[in-house]
Amino acid sequence: MQTLKALRDIAFDIGTGKHPDLAAMARELGRVVRRDGPLLDQGLAYLRNRQRGFERWLLAERGKPALSMLVMAWPANHATPVHDHGGLWGLELALHGALEVQAWSRDPADGALHLKGQDWLGPGDATWFDADTTYTHRCRNLSRHDAALSLHVYGGDLAQYFAYEQVGQAEPWLARPQRAAIAGRLGA
Ligand SMILES: [Fe+2]
Repeated sequence: MQTLKALRDIAFDIGTGKHPDLAAMARELGRVVRRDGPLLDQGLAYLRNRQRGFERWLLAERGKPALSMLVMAWPANHATPVHDHGGLWGLELALHGALEVQAWSRDPADGALHLKGQDWLGPGDATWFDADTTYTHRCRNLSRHDAALSLHVYGGDLAQYFAYEQVGQAEPWLARPQRAAIAGRLGA
């Protein structure tokens, strides 16, 4: 699909160096997603209709400079735990539907997490974070009825990361190692 190729080219182009210009990447990716919205919706409809739960699809990867691109399929109401990104920079952009992104900050001294704020992303809207081990977030599909799709760009292969969980309000946060499974590869 031409649109996926255009998105990959933008990410590969801008996603270089230790601190790529993620605001520029978000702007350029968002422009293509808004321009080609109906085409994208049509081309990726099968990812929304699979009914297999939350899935991560690999769109592209590069070794040097390291970068990976994924499309994620969110069932209605699906929410992630608070999680980090293995210290990689990253960008998340809504393709279809709307997502809520709660940003949290993790105190490296005691491991406590603090809510920093939240964003709501519609198609073409993005949020991003620099390479930083204290940044964590929790994302949710805002729809109770429809699946959502999002595009993710990371400064490397996000195979392992941590999810954070608090059993009770006064309890310490627990870090649980996660393995990021891939449902398959998308052609671009
Ligand atoms: Fe994330």
